Amino acid sequence: MMDQVSEHLYGLSGQSMHELIHKFPLDQTDIRENIDNILQEYKDVPGGLMVILNEIQSQIGYISRPIQEYVSLVLNTPVSTIAGVVSFYSFFTTEPRGDHTVKFCMGTACYVGGTQQLIRKAEQILNIQSGETTPDNRITLEVCRCVGSCSQAPVVVVDEQMYGRLRPSKIPPLIRDILKKYEDS
Ligand code: FES
Repeated sequence: MMDQVSEHLYGLSGQSMHELIHKFPLDQTDIRENIDNILQEYKDVPGGLMVILNEIQSQIGYISRPIQEYVSLVLNTPVSTIAGVVSFYSFFTTEPRGDHTVKFCMGTACYVGGTQQLIRKAEQILNIQSGETTPDNRITLEVCRCVGSCSQAPVVVVDEQMYGRLRPSKIPPLIRDILKKYEDS
């Protein structure tokens, strides 16, 4: 039913659309309806691509490759353009984030100041790689571009909170503090 709706809505009945709507998460009716609503609302608005991607990120939580391809087909925009926007802005992710995000600034000052050692420490503790989320969905590790506090390098941003002049020894207590929130609740 929804296959026909999506195809009919946008006049796209090609093989690619048919294959796409059977890929996760587009095979989830509620998610695809949500994306369809966003596309319908903004597809004809000038500069709508950014608004659409923002809305998808906010409402769905990520913009995976199948979602990018779906948006590409509907907007008749090359998927490479969409992928370029998604990878340029750190707000966008291609996978779901955990409840808390730990971002490591990779700007020059922070990089020179030792960001990589901080990342390594966090990766060791959580047993995941940067860009991944812990299996319990609590913490995502990410790198980001300069956050504008270079004098505080190296900088780590936990959710909205910034921590400066960090050393690797400060990473374990930082992560403990995040996890403590779960014990307290
Ligand atoms: S380089 Fe990290 S805050 Fe500017």
